[in-house]
Parts: sequence; structure tokens; C-alpha cells
Amino acid sequence: VNNVILQQPRRILFGDDVSGQTPAEVSLLGGTRVFIVTTSFLLGPAEKLAARLTDQGTATEIFADIETEPDIALFERVLTAGRKFGFDLVVGLGGGSVLDVAKLVAALADGRQAVADTFGIGLLEGRDAGLICIPTTSGTGSEVSPNAILLDESDQLKKGVVSPFLVPDIAIIDPLLTVSLPPVMTAATGLDAMVHCMEAYANLHAHPTVDLYALEGIRRIAPNLVRAVKDGNDLEARGALSLGSLYGGLCLGPVNTAAVHALSYPLGGEFHVPHGVSNTLLLPHVFRFNLEAAPDRYATIALALDVADQGSDLATAQAGIDRLVELSVACGLPQQLRDVGVKASDLPHLADESMKVTRLLKNNPKPMTREDAEAIFRAAW
Ligand SMILES: NC(=O)c1ccc[n+]([C@@H]2O[C@H](COP(=O)([O-])OP(=O)(O)OC[C@H]3O[C@@H](n4cnc5c(N)ncnc54)[C@H](O)[C@@H]3O)[C@@H](O)[C@H]2O)c1
Ligand SMILES: [Fe+2]
Repeated sequence: VNNVILQQPRRILFGDDVSGQTPAEVSLLGGTRVFIVTTSFLLGPAEKLAARLTDQGTATEIFADIETEPDIALFERVLTAGRKFGFDLVVGLGGGSVLDVAKLVAALADGRQAVADTFGIGLLEGRDAGLICIPTTSGTGSEVSPNAILLDESDQLKKGVVSPFLVPDIAIIDPLLTVSLPPVMTAATGLDAMVHCMEAYANLHAHPTVDLYALEGIRRIAPNLVRAVKDGNDLEARGALSLGSLYGGLCLGPVNTAAVHALSYPLGGEFHVPHGVSNTLLLPHVFRFNLEAAPDRYATIALALDVADQGSDLATAQAGIDRLVELSVACGLPQQLRDVGVKASDLPHLADESMKVTRLLKNNPKPMTREDAEAIFRAAW
């Protein structure tokens, strides 16, 4: 059995309406000046939270300009606004894009390090400010993970900071906050969460403890994804996706993802394909490539997707991949790279760039060369 390190927020609140408890959680951490990082779609809930914090004598400031897939320039603007206000606690309220920026602002406000010097694993030196993350998508699991992703506009590559200091102090997961998420984003983020579970389960560094979250996350998300896409007000489905996303997030610290995410990053960086969509486009092709290295793991994933046993691991695993494609079609997501603005002539460059994401490729159950990656991009095109 592999070794494992489990590190999680010291409090995780989960359930309908738990976001109403945020002011009490701020008090628990001793926050006196709270910087709320959010997006324009969520200005309503952010202002409500700010009003309640003001009522309890806590100074607040809201930064609401984060749209999607943040770059370094945007991060610097948020950092500047936060420093000007002067905070001792950051609340991130939004999707993974918001939460990742909130996490880095909390850690880098003291000016000890520039963000570019922290890309990689374990390079961040600390975090002085308190940190509460409240997700409003059910996808990234960033509210419990040690990761934050920014686009480096100097080379159009998405880069990750991985550090124990980025695990929030408190995660508040309220499925009701995801009800307003549009169908396409519901589909993309839900599949992202499911990929976190699958890539952590079929992973060189898989661990029995993390397998529990991974398989249960798949079991929660698979039957509820299309339901939530078709009816955003289906609260039972929303709750299941939020829980699955939390489980996916709990897989990220101890085990993390692998080649699907590695190949996905250049698509986000250069073609601005939303993270969940780029994952979904690559998923079946990477899994077909990996299959022979871990047929039993992919068969177990298929069973968690509620696929019937096909008599052999390989056949069951294949049927699981077919089920994943059906799910993505039923969600109305694009199926080929050519549908999201990628040209055939872009594929060699995408393969080059994906090879730079060594921190994830090292987890893949089967070694992947640059030529393998190009063949996968070609199959997905
Ligand atoms: N930190 C991690 O562990 C981790 C893991 C996976 C992905 N990521 C990163 O997270 C980012 C993607 O995050 P995401 O998939 O959550 O999407 P997102 O945060 O980019 O949000 C997608 C869109 O939905 C909107 N939105 C969010 N919540 C809403 C709501 N409740 N109602 C209406 N609109 C809403 C956002 O404003 C945005 O336009 C990427 O940069 C990705 O690389 C981080
Ligand atoms: Fe992801």
C-alpha cells in the first residue's frame, strides 16, 4: 500500500442553507476585517453576507470581478485591492476560479513571495490570513484541496500552486448556492468532479482511504448529473453533485489527478475551453490509452457508474468508457476538439505543452510520451 498524507480543513460544513452560518464561522476564526472575493453573478449573496458581518462588527470589502479561469494579472488586481483594504480573513464565494484566487490572495498578501515563485509543489512559505471557501459550482473541490490554478499569460499555460497552506481553514458547502448554475456549467463542473474521483482511483499513488471518497463520489454524481442539468431546481440532484464534488476535492490533496488533467490544461490556457469541458473531451481517449495498465481499476470505476459486469475487467472497463461518453452526450457537451476551436495543426503544440504538466503526468497509471499525447489529441479531435 502506498503512503498517504491526509490534510483537510479543520471544519467542513455541508448541507442546504449552511452558508447562513458563515458569520459565526468568521467569528470562530477571529476574523475582524474580511475580504470577500466573488463574481458578479453572486453579488447578491455576497452583499447579504457582508451586511450580516457588518452587523456583528466585522469590517468587510467585496471584490466581485472574477469571471472565469483567472490569469496572473487578475490575481494581482485582487491582491492589490485586498492589501489596500487590509484584511485578516478571506472569504471566497464562487466557483473554482474564485476560490483559487481567494486562496492565493490569503497566502500571498504579506508580500513575502511573488505568485510566479510559488508555482509547483510545496514552494509556498506560509499563510497569515484566515481562509473560508464557499463553492457555488459542484466541480473543483477547491474548497478542501491544497491546489490553486492560474493562467500564466506569458506562456499561455495554466499553472498550479500546491501547498498545505492552501487548504482552507473552513469549507462551507451549501448545495442551494448551486441552483442558479446554468445547465452547461452544471454539466462541465459535475464531470470535472467525477474526473477527480476517477483519476484518483486509477492512479499510481492511489490509496484505500482515498478510494472510498473516489468511488462514492462517482456513485453520487453519475445518476444525478443529467437530472441537475435538465432541472437546476432538482435539490436532491444538486445535493448529490455537491457531495460528489466534495469527495472529488478530498481526493486531490492526498492523490491528485493524472493525464486527463495534464492534457486538459493547454486547452484551457490557449483555447479558453472551460476546465470541465476540456476534461470531458479528453476523458474517453486517455482512459482507452490507460486501460491495459489497470483494467481492474477501470472495471471498478465502470461498476460505480452502474454499468453491468461484462464478464472480464477489460470488457467491463470498455463499457464504462462508453457510459461516460453517453453521459457527456446526454448533458449536451461538445464531443470533439474541432468543436471548440482547435485546428488539426494545433495538435503537435498541444502535445508539447501537456508534457510540461509533469506534476500530474507522474501519477498516470501508464507512462505517456509526447507521441502518445499527440495521438490522444488526434483521437479527440
Ligand atoms: N483548486 C483546485 O483544486 C481545482 C481543481 C479543478 C479545477 N480548478 C480550476 O477551477 C477553475 C474552474 O472552476 P469551475 O469549474 O468551478 O468554474 P468557474 O469558477 O470558472 O465558474 C464557471 C462560470 O459559472 C459562473 N458561476 C459560478 N457559480 C455560479 C452560480 N451558483 N450561479 C450562476 N453562475 C455561477 C461563474 O461566474 C463562471 O462564469 C479552473 O481555473 C480550473 O483550472 C481548480
Ligand atoms: Fe479538475
